[in-house]
Amino acid sequence: MKQLGPIGIFDSGVGGTSIWKEIHQLLPHEDTIYLADSVNAPYGHKSEEEIVSLSIKNTEFLIQQGAKIIVVACNTATTNAIDVLRSNFDTPFIGIEPAIKPAALLTHSKSIGILATKGTLNSSLFHKTSEEHTHGIKVTEIIGEGLVPLIEKGELNSTEMLLLLKKFIKPMMDAEIDYLVLGCSHYPYLIPQLEKIVPAHVKIIDSGLAVARQTKSVLEKNDLLNTTKKTPALVFYSNTNVDTMKFLLQEFSSEILLEKKEF
Ligand code: DGL
Repeated sequence: MKQLGPIGIFDSGVGGTSIWKEIHQLLPHEDTIYLADSVNAPYGHKSEEEIVSLSIKNTEFLIQQGAKIIVVACNTATTNAIDVLRSNFDTPFIGIEPAIKPAALLTHSKSIGILATKGTLNSSLFHKTSEEHTHGIKVTEIIGEGLVPLIEKGELNSTEMLLLLKKFIKPMMDAEIDYLVLGCSHYPYLIPQLEKIVPAHVKIIDSGLAVARQTKSVLEKNDLLNTTKKTPALVFYSNTNVDTMKFLLQEFSSEILLEKKEF
């Protein structure tokens, strides 16, 4: 039988575990290996060159570990580096981009908000996608300055976090948005807090499920899907302490291997 490696997933830190959860739910028998480059988080303020070079380093590590596909579970790395990754490696790549298209299709108020990193909002890939899909729609783009470092520390509910979220949401409410797009894989962890701030008619959307479905479809097309029903190996590496990741993955604690590792 063909030996198939794990699904490799990386992010600048712990945020991509929100994407891992969707992938694991859809493909529960797949081995996965997750890389949190938390030493270098946040990527959102780095130059395109730095993001590309870190993304290459993460990819090389995952390929050395036998990854059969790489999920770039980071909007900032996808929007800045996915083309370079695809042209440098033969492995299939799945990227994550802010879900502007569904928001633009579904909005009634013709006004949508997007919360993402500076690196994502300034990227040419984001501009291209946004221009393509938002004709006649007002798009309020807000940089989530300071959110990722707080999430990396596990501070999801601190006063500082709540003040920042209120500040970022205000201009979106003034613009009467009815869809809020979370354009960073760290932000789904803030949905409970955001739901307390935005009015009930505002829908909050992210790209996690779409990424999981796309991963499954590309694995199928490439004949890389694991069809056995075995218990999967679920490995998580971080190059800083693993406390926040442990906290975010607590419901999986008996099934996963979580380790600090230099890479
Ligand atoms: N989780 C990332 C993203 O989706 C990166 C955040 C950061 O490192 O700035 O954009």
